[in-house]
Amino acid sequence: MSTVSTLAESTVAQAVLSVRDLRISDQANGREIVHGVSFDLAPGRTVGIVGESGSGKTLTCRAALGILPVHFEVTGGAIELDGRDITGLAPAEWTAQRGSTISAVFQDPASYLNPSLRVGAQVAEVIRVKKRAGRRAARRQTIELLRAVHLRDPELVYGQYAYELSGGMLQRVLIAAAIAAGPRVLIADEATTALDVTVQAEILDLLADLRDRTGLALVLVSHDLAVVAQLCDEVLVLRQGEVVEQGPTREVLHHPRHEYTRLLIAEHEQYGLDRFLAPEEDV
Ligand SMILES: Nc1ncnc2c1ncn2[C@@H]1O[C@H](COP(=O)(O)OP(=O)(O)O)[C@@H](O)[C@H]1O
Ligand SMILES: [Mg+2]
Repeated sequence: MSTVSTLAESTVAQAVLSVRDLRISDQANGREIVHGVSFDLAPGRTVGIVGESGSGKTLTCRAALGILPVHFEVTGGAIELDGRDITGLAPAEWTAQRGSTISAVFQDPASYLNPSLRVGAQVAEVIRVKKRAGRRAARRQTIELLRAVHLRDPELVYGQYAYELSGGMLQRVLIAAAIAAGPRVLIADEATTALDVTVQAEILDLLADLRDRTGLALVLVSHDLAVVAQLCDEVLVLRQGEVVEQGPTREVLHHPRHEYTRLLIAEHEQYGLDRFLAPEEDV
């Protein structure tokens, strides 16, 4: 029996998110901005999307979340969640889907929180709405979530306001809110970009931990190859809306085929990208 092929086949069969030749256009001028992105993502796995600013990473994510900016549209391809194409969903269907099957965290967590409400109450509100929980149950579940994202003293944090928390703590609160309704896919779009290096590493550890414990599938988006190298099984290199390179992370980092990928790697050598890459014993 070939274990390897069985495993590979079951991974493909199980893909929770499949993006196929996704094309996104700006309907204001008819210009295509994203020119065909494809990947399959299975539970417990991580795909990385890297590329310079403006390459179409965020638009790709927003298409999968049903929150493209006005006059942007999916003009080709498909996005399947559990085998169901979601590109044609009506707004009400999107509202039901978002958070419960696919969810996201972005850069600048403070901007997603109301400064005049306690952070715990805001996470609890997500649970009340998405899981139709009562007040007391929502509070209890929120405390559990704050604990799950490794916030020390979750009861204390529950009652605090955004301005009382550090950037790293705020991102943990946002991750708690994002996973509150038990999504199967979590998109982290530059979620660690604004954080200092130590905190960035802690948040990446947290995401990996949630993935490994719950089977969450992760889409990790960053302009920083080192971030992606740390966590991802597969990586897509995007440039001007085009996938210039795609494959297993180690393969892409050790044997980049495209000049642009080599450039990204060279840029990051000074930050010690090689720390994330064990020597290639097997080649
Ligand atoms: N809200 C918007 N309005 C107009 N153009 C946009 C908007 N969002 C993105 N774009 C265009 O789409 C391109 C890709 O943007 P984006 O996906 O945000 O890039 P990335 O996340 O890789 O930095 C940008 O270069 C920009 O021209
Ligand atoms: Mg972006």
